[in-house]
Amino acid sequence: MYKILAASIFINILVMQKNSANLDTLRLAVQPASFEIDSITRRQSFRNAMSRLAAGVNIVTTDGLAGRAGFAATAICSVTDTPPTLLVCLNRNSSAFAAVNGNRTLCVNVLDDSHADLCRLFGGGTPLTQRFSSGAWGVGDGGCPRLDGALASFDCRITSMTSCGTHVVLLCEVNTVITHEGGSALIYFARGYHTLAACQTDTSSS
Ligand SMILES: Cc1cc2nc3c(=O)[nH]c(=O)nc-3n(C[C@H](O)[C@H](O)[C@H](O)COP(=O)(O)O)c2cc1C
Repeated sequence: MYKILAASIFINILVMQKNSANLDTLRLAVQPASFEIDSITRRQSFRNAMSRLAAGVNIVTTDGLAGRAGFAATAICSVTDTPPTLLVCLNRNSSAFAAVNGNRTLCVNVLDDSHADLCRLFGGGTPLTQRFSSGAWGVGDGGCPRLDGALASFDCRITSMTSCGTHVVLLCEVNTVITHEGGSALIYFARGYHTLAACQTDTSSS
């Protein structure tokens, strides 16, 4: 009797192990190929995928008691027009963070296709003091550097700052906007700078 019971338990354990092995195989099979388990690989996969997302390029500036600073940024989007609000993502380890955090005011300058070199200057590595030596800079309503010839400039007050991983997500209420008609946008795509061209309209079927 005990022998039969022990044999039955043994067989059940074997079946359970087989099922759990199948489950693992199933889990691996349904993982999308781009989803990596290792965190470094996951980060790299994410970065590679993000390089496929074309984005307009901006230079974000600040000035005030905490000092003058500026950085290139693509992680910017509109949140709402009531009140007019932009979202800006800023790396806490960047040299511009202390000034932005202290001043709580900034200006978002939308770059045109003549600004690629200026963008490289603000894109990291150059000391903050040297960044404004190139480009034509005025002063916006909030006291932050405003780029002459930008496609648009938004003078903003930071209303909220939320941490997310290495970055802070800033909600910025827009006080003043300056818009320049014409010009062509500077786009960052596939780790390089591009200009925006209109799509060809297909008129062959009409
Ligand atoms: C095209 C481009 C887009 C960037 N976008 C952002 C961004 O949205 N947010 C951000 O914090 N840094 C962004 N950076 C990086 C910053 O401009 C800056 O280089 C980085 O924070 C480190 O700079 P540092 O040398 O001043 O510390 C971008 C850089 C480039 C070249």
